This record gives sequence, structure tokens and C-alpha cells, in this order.
Amino acid sequence: MSEGIARRLASISDSATMAVTARAAALKAAGRPVIGFGAGEPDFPTPAHVVEAAQRAAADPKNHRYSPAIGLPELRVAVADKTARDSGFEVGPESVVITNGGKGAVFGAFAALLEPGDEVLLPAPYWVSYPEAAALFGGVTKVIPTAVDAGFRVTVDQLEAARTERSKVLVFVSPGNPTGAVYPPDEVAAIGAWAAAHGIWVLADEIYEHLVYGSSVFSSVAVEAPESAPRCVIVNGVAKTFAMTGWRVGWLIAPPEVAAAVGRLQSHSTSNVANVSQRAAIAALTGPFEPALAMREAFDRRRRTMHRMLGEIPGLSAMEPQGAFYAFPNVTRIDPDSKRLADFLLTEAGVACLSGTAFGRYGQGYLRFSYANNVEQIQEGLRRMKEALSRYPAAVG
Ligand SMILES: Cc1ncc(COP(=O)(O)O)c(C=O)c1O
Repeated sequence: MSEGIARRLASISDSATMAVTARAAALKAAGRPVIGFGAGEPDFPTPAHVVEAAQRAAADPKNHRYSPAIGLPELRVAVADKTARDSGFEVGPESVVITNGGKGAVFGAFAALLEPGDEVLLPAPYWVSYPEAAALFGGVTKVIPTAVDAGFRVTVDQLEAARTERSKVLVFVSPGNPTGAVYPPDEVAAIGAWAAAHGIWVLADEIYEHLVYGSSVFSSVAVEAPESAPRCVIVNGVAKTFAMTGWRVGWLIAPPEVAAAVGRLQSHSTSNVANVSQRAAIAALTGPFEPALAMREAFDRRRRTMHRMLGEIPGLSAMEPQGAFYAFPNVTRIDPDSKRLADFLLTEAGVACLSGTAFGRYGQGYLRFSYANNVEQIQEGLRRMKEALSRYPAAVG
């Protein structure tokens, strides 16, 4: 630990996703043809009507000034309307806080809810920002492993077994990162009812709500179990649905007094999210949805290609992902040390993916592939991977 850095930050780890992206970029810069499956972001440009709205906003001096830290009133209304339209959860704009991406919403939610020592129940494998953000506010993460045979979905029995008097928040993510799991409505209802019965808050991360495929449907815990709504904090944003990761607009939806508390936190920390980005988000949420649907179609085609080709690699087994844009194959029969395997694939096959251990220790034995990549690249990457793995044991020694 460097001298002078407070313990709360010294123990925070860097994002593994960013680290792999940086290594892949370095290899590319050195002339190696690396195919990237690491990044958790759409490869499409932001839809044109959204970009045009931002251009108009940038030219309007009213957007050159501070605006309310809790978010532009028009965007808070657009989020409330969109939520009622898309998930069926009816809220007023006073429940909405515009944040710096979904990450800002997770941070604000934990800041508002956690006292030191409060437990956060976290089904694994999980997106790493949850335990890191919870720890900043003294939260103690209790990890609950989910199994591939159970579709990587946690059950009420597992939650009940993990619950203690200090359990304060359940993190519930569907569709999920890194597994691509989607909970069916009856399971969402049962989990929401369980949380409500025990006075547990649900941090429901709905950022992949529109990226569901086949017969899977997205459902919101606040709708399936209305009794959970008074203790529900929904995290969402424009990043994944509208290919807007760099614009940094997310939001949380919470009971008005929680929303107001997060707004006060932002008034002393970030202030408002950039007005131009907020105006772009208004265009995304209120404008035509066809561009988002076209991206979802493309993701679905890539998902099917990816799943088929992963299935053709000896020793590897994969659950068909139902949502988000990730495949999460088990590689234990090739190498139980998935970090070593991911390193090999990067250096020997020029294929950048993430070890499942980037999503907690229960990700050991898995690799995560983002299919935010065109079909040709996916095909070429998986061809290279299959070829490299055919000589893997010899290579590792
Ligand atoms: C499950 C989940 N929630 C939230 C986010 C945060 O998205 P952003 O902060 O870019 O809006 C991500 C990004 O990878 C994610 O995978």
C-alpha cells in the first residue's frame, strides 16, 4: 500500500475488463491482429438521431450552465415515462436521479442505504463493481454462488440460507453480466416477495432490460412483486440499449426520500451529468426505438453464431445465453485455471477474453466472451481459438 492512501481506496482493485482491453490494445499496437471479446460495450455507433440531438444541445447556451444535480427535469420525466412504458413500473419523476452511468447509480444506491457492517447479498458470478462500491460504504458482501445447472440463477432457498439480521440489500441482476442469465417472471416474483417479507432492499440492475432473446422476457422485480417496490432501487441507463457507454448517462429509481438523498450526495460530489449527454438521453428515450431493435437483432445473430461455434470446441461447454451480450463457457476440462487459459488465448491465438475470475472466485473455470463484435470477427476469433486449443496441453506443459 502506498503511504498516504486511505485504506478504503488502497484495497479497491482495478477493473479487469479495462486491464484486458489495455493488454489487447498494446498487442494490436505492436502489429498483432487481436480480436477483442473483452469489452462490455456495444460496438455500434450511437443512433444518428441521438447524436443530432446532442449537436443541437451543444449549440444552445442554456446547456452551457450548471443544471440540477439530481438531473434535468425533462430527463427525469422521460425516465419515469419510459419505465412505465417498458417495464410497467409506475413512478413519478421525484423518484428518478440522473447519474453518471449505471455505475453512478450503483454508487449512489449503496451510499444511501448502507451503514458499516450491513450485508449485501450478491449472487455469483457477479459484475465486480458491486462489491467494490459496497465496500466503500462499509458494506460486507456475502457472496452466494449460483450453478450452471440452475441457469446461474439464485433461488429463494439459497437467499434464505444466506440471510442474517444484518442482511440489508440484495443485488438482483437480470439479464446478467457475466452469465447472460435471465430470470423468468415467476422467479423474479418469488425473490421480490422473499425480500419484502424480510425487509430487505433490492438493488435491481435492469441495464440489460432490452437485450433478451428467444423466448426469454425481461421482468422488473418492482412489478412482479409490488410489495418489494417500497424497498427497491432500480439501476438503469442508456449505455447498453442505445450504444451510449461513453456518454455517461444512467439513473436510479427509488422511493422519493432515497432519491432525494442521492441527489444531495451528487450536489456535493459530481453535480449534474453533462447537459449535452442528458439531452442526448432524452432523444434516446423519447425518439424512435427501431435503431435499438436493429442492434438487438444483430446481437441475437452474433449470440447464435457464438453459441454454435463454442459448442464445436472440444472440452468446452456453454449455457445458451438468454440476455445481455455475453457467453460464459465452462473450460474446466481444458484447464481449471481459467486465467492461465485466457492469457494463453491472448498471446497464442490473438483472442482477448476475460477469465471468469474477473467476476469473483466462483467464476473460476469459465471464460467470458462479449459478442459485441461483428459476425466475421466472431467466426475468425473462434476458429483461431479452436485451433490454438487443439495444442493447448502441450503449450502449457
Ligand atoms: C450489470 C451492469 N450494470 C451496470 C453497468 C454500468 O454501465 P454504465 O456505468 O456504463 O452505464 C454495467 C456495465 O458493464 C453492467 O454490466
